[in-house]
Amino acid sequence: MALKRQLLVAVSVVCLLVVYMLYVKMQWPPSLYLLDIRKAQAVASRPNSIAEDSTPRDSDLSQRDGTSTPPNPTAAKKTAALKTQPFTNPPKPAQNQILNAFSSKSEGEDEAKKSTKALPAKPTKPPGPTDPPYIGDSYMTEEFPSQTNCLDGIRNRIKESEFGSRFLERIPVLQWARHATEEQHQRLKQYPGTHGWGGVDYDTLKDTLSVLNSSANWRMLDDWETRKNKSECSRCAVVGNGGILNGSKKGKEIDGHHYVFRTNGAVIQGFEEDVGSRTTHYTFSTNTLMNSMRSYGGAGYHGPPVSPETRYVFLPDHDRDYLLMKAAATHTPVERGPERGKDPTRYFGKDVSAEKLKMYHPDFIRYLRNRFLRSNILKGRYKDIYRPSTGAAMLLAALHTCDQVSAYGFMTPDYQKYSDHYYDKSYHKVAFYANHDMRMEMVVWQHLHDAGLITLYMRQ
Ligand SMILES: *[C@@H]1O[C@H](CO)[C@@H](O)[C@H](O)[C@H]1NC(C)=O
Ligand SMILES: *[C@@H]1O[C@H](CO)[C@@H](O)[C@H](O)[C@H]1NC(C)=O
Ligand SMILES: *[C@@H]1O[C@H](CO)[C@@H](O)[C@H](O)[C@H]1NC(C)=O
Repeated sequence: MALKRQLLVAVSVVCLLVVYMLYVKMQWPPSLYLLDIRKAQAVASRPNSIAEDSTPRDSDLSQRDGTSTPPNPTAAKKTAALKTQPFTNPPKPAQNQILNAFSSKSEGEDEAKKSTKALPAKPTKPPGPTDPPYIGDSYMTEEFPSQTNCLDGIRNRIKESEFGSRFLERIPVLQWARHATEEQHQRLKQYPGTHGWGGVDYDTLKDTLSVLNSSANWRMLDDWETRKNKSECSRCAVVGNGGILNGSKKGKEIDGHHYVFRTNGAVIQGFEEDVGSRTTHYTFSTNTLMNSMRSYGGAGYHGPPVSPETRYVFLPDHDRDYLLMKAAATHTPVERGPERGKDPTRYFGKDVSAEKLKMYHPDFIRYLRNRFLRSNILKGRYKDIYRPSTGAAMLLAALHTCDQVSAYGFMTPDYQKYSDHYYDKSYHKVAFYANHDMRMEMVVWQHLHDAGLITLYMRQ
């Protein structure tokens, strides 16, 4: 009897100890994402700023409601402070997933050759009370035959960097015909927007994605062999639309890369000296494309760049993206939705074909959200509309597919010195929206640059 009571006491003590240890663990390590709560809230409290990347802004409107943040020196100081914060590794669940991803290496040749293998959806450990939540930190893995013989490409170097623990080598960056299975639809339909297939029914998905059925659809650098010109390493220029490019004279340097990535309202004509003239990869979602055409027509943006070397990389957000993609591949009018009846060659040129089209995989965008851009917005009332900006998806996709990446026209800590876009006719301060976290993205670019993984163009 006494023995039993002693045992009970001992068990209770152990339980209490475990609970205490769990509590302590949840408080530690302090996360990067704690750093700019105030800022995220400030952005989130501007209802006018819920918008896509390129929705027209009305600066008068945001001034009228009195909530816009004037350019001020304390904001700049905060930014500088952010930059020097340690970049903490993601908490444990991410690690588990990496182990899972790599453990499938041992599953044998045949399994690996099948090349599209979904991971079992393991429940992720809930993040600590102060961390933004994950959504589905478990992804499909694929075998990618290496396209280049580059010995010190990004994918080799990133593993030893501070980003090593969040990097998944075998995440599918692009989706294509083989991914459109019922099993995958079951898995991905639970995530809305860019993070899954929530808004896309299976028939539409199957019908549209099946047109992307060639190696050009799953390879980002699909024509490397014809382009490499004896180089072992692929060099990509990724060009954002930031005002920092105004007067930069970087055009020649940009065009000198094997590949040139651009996004959204990329006005080229008249700005070649600063931004170059080539575009091999143009990233957009149907929504941001339509918004850009509406907003930047005056600045000379009338649609995506069109050239024999231009490929179109969709960031799908709704089923309208799948429908426009299929229309473009088949040269037929868009079947339904907001673009119903529109002629896709009007946007992508007469020579558009399935081989020129690509689409980001929702697993890739969700992975970016969970591991590279886990913003504090995810803790606020705009958590459901938050996603990586189109430019961020483009830059991080290049990081996962090119051997060397130079980024131009992305936000830098001195962004207040430059207009929002390089093509603005007069100075407009950079606009922030509640569905993106551009300041946090900026901090990530600084870290990638400092880690030697990208070369970020900074004026000084
Ligand atoms: C894709 O192409 C392969 C081989 O050419 C073929 O077997 C398969 O049925 C095609 N898939 C779709 C969805 O069209
Ligand atoms: C290939 O490389 C050579 C030597 O570096 C250079 O002169 C030539 O312009 C390059 N060709 C192309 C198509 O880039
Ligand atoms: C672009 O640069 C020029 C020359 O420095 C300057 O005069 C102009 O105001 C700039 N444009 C904007 C929108 O800031």
